[in-house]
Amino acid sequence: MIFEQVATGGCQSYLLACQDTQAAVLIDPELSRIDHYKGLLARHGVALKYIVDTHTHADHFSASKELGKALSVPVVMHRLSPAPHADMRLDDGDMLIAGGLKLKALHTPGHTRDSMSLVMDDRVFTGDTLLIGGTGRTDLPTGDPHMLFESLFDKLLKLKPETLVFPAHDYKGRSHSTIGAEIADNPRLQKTERAAFVEMMQALDLAAPTHLTEALRTNMSGGKTVAQMLAEAAAKVPFMSLEELSARIGGNSGDIVVLDLREKEAFEADHIPSARHLPRGQLELRVNKELPDPTQRILTYCEVGKISTLAAATLRELGYTRAVALDGGMTAWREAGYPLDS
Ligand SMILES: [Fe+2]
Repeated sequence: MIFEQVATGGCQSYLLACQDTQAAVLIDPELSRIDHYKGLLARHGVALKYIVDTHTHADHFSASKELGKALSVPVVMHRLSPAPHADMRLDDGDMLIAGGLKLKALHTPGHTRDSMSLVMDDRVFTGDTLLIGGTGRTDLPTGDPHMLFESLFDKLLKLKPETLVFPAHDYKGRSHSTIGAEIADNPRLQKTERAAFVEMMQALDLAAPTHLTEALRTNMSGGKTVAQMLAEAAAKVPFMSLEELSARIGGNSGDIVVLDLREKEAFEADHIPSARHLPRGQLELRVNKELPDPTQRILTYCEVGKISTLAAATLRELGYTRAVALDGGMTAWREAGYPLDS
């Protein structure tokens, strides 16, 4: 079997592939590593058959939807997953077959209600149910320490002691463990009585993970991250440098409409000479009146360069085919010492 473990910060993804049939399965991919996974598939000459998310992640962005769409590969999650982009939903005991790979789903709720572990001959992918020297937390949406206790003690820990454990997270650079080693050494598993275990989990008082809202929002619904929105807009528009713009407005050639998209107060305080004011919030409503010539060259800018990128992409979508965004914003313009009007 081809086996690749890809660590992204503390997140662990796994690529498994059957050498005889070239069928591959990717478990818990992370959004920022899509090109890396594609590279691995190409390097091993294997074809992805399934993308599996072990649960709704609350601390990082799943690549499942994007990658599934890009490669036309079904996304597999537990039956209770809220994600509308899950193409195949597994129940406890269901088996996923890809070539010679057979992965049996164990429903192991507790960290989340839709958590599942995937069992193979010699190993188990435990998601965030069982971690090396720890367990997933149970205080985030749909978490439940009682369920986690049952998932661990009635299911995972009953696997053979030599079973290899590959979790969805490890923040200390470790790749795997075994069920036997976890039973012996995992501090949380020493609380073998339900009440003591639940009490320990409820007393953890952990800080909320960074990006919690954005991760839940995107992973539960298949929505986009803000970074994705910006990257998609940026891919659709050309940019103009501060220097180039300065030369063009200095030459007073009048061949470019410079649009300031900020709020009125900001525009009145200072702006790029010759700029016209059209706040981003009114762009679509006023565009026909303000920009009657769709063949006109238009440059958008804002304070830091993000809103202007979105706006230039919108203008291009509306048919202003020569819209560009400033590479930078007013902050950079001021810092570089270019002229200002107020
Ligand atoms: Fe998680």
